[in-house]
Amino acid sequence: MNPDLPPGPRVCVVIPTYNESDNVVQLIEGIRQTGITGLDILFVDDSSPDGTGESVLAISSREKWIHLLSRKEKRGIGSAYQEGIAHALANFDPEVIVEMDADLQHPPETLSDLMGAVASGADVAIASRYVPGGGVGGWGLARRVVSKGANAYAKTMLRLPVRDATSGYRAFSKAAAGRLSSAKLPATGFEFQVAALCLLKGQGKIVEVPFVFQRRIAGRSKLGLGAVLRFFFKVLVMAIFPPRLEWRKG
Ligand code: GDD
Ligand code: MN
Repeated sequence: MNPDLPPGPRVCVVIPTYNESDNVVQLIEGIRQTGITGLDILFVDDSSPDGTGESVLAISSREKWIHLLSRKEKRGIGSAYQEGIAHALANFDPEVIVEMDADLQHPPETLSDLMGAVASGADVAIASRYVPGGGVGGWGLARRVVSKGANAYAKTMLRLPVRDATSGYRAFSKAAAGRLSSAKLPATGFEFQVAALCLLKGQGKIVEVPFVFQRRIAGRSKLGLGAVLRFFFKVLVMAIFPPRLEWRKG
């Protein structure tokens, strides 16, 4: 940490993992090198067979800002985010909550832009591929078409006022994170990203900051054909039954 930097807001970065053991050490170093102070990182691991959870646990015993929430079985990225955000709010008293992938496709340097946007009054700051200055690295035609198609479909069906509705790299104000975690979204998979925007639109300021989605170096994507088909179906269901803030516990 850089002692010359003024202390920032307390931030918890929630990172879901499934078989990311070749990425977590480098990711933690990348986040450390941003020099951002006041950070906690919460990994939400679904008992990855490759030992990701054990690696994180070993690091967390030496580094007090690294935490592990371990779940017994693979229950989806959206479910990991919902449980992770609730756990972070209950345990770390963060002023900002960030969601970020573990595989280095989300560059740590963008963290300060996301946090700056929340500090300037945004409730949701999205790291966006589809605003000027943003982009994707190393994607073939098929993935580009699927991403653009999924975005256009979700934005139209759910009337989402953003350019990149499916990005999984975001920061939330404490108020927005609280709304998210009490709403209990019916979105356990990759549809969580659009479900969250559906819930939070009209509830505060949403802004986008550009970033370039990096090529995956190690490990493999979990977003296969089944997840894409499920996404299209889930968006249709949400268009008919929009997630609402009233869907609170009880
Ligand atoms: N705990 C847990 N459980 N983590 C999971 C699960 C799960 O069931 N499925 C995926 N993850 C973790 C991965 O280990 C990774 O850290 C992160 O979630 C993203 O998964 P990837 O498989 O790398 O997704 P991607 O790169 O194909 O998709 C990314 O870009 C999409 C937009 O194009 C993600 O950011 C998506 O959220 C985003 O919609
Ligand atoms: Mn990825």
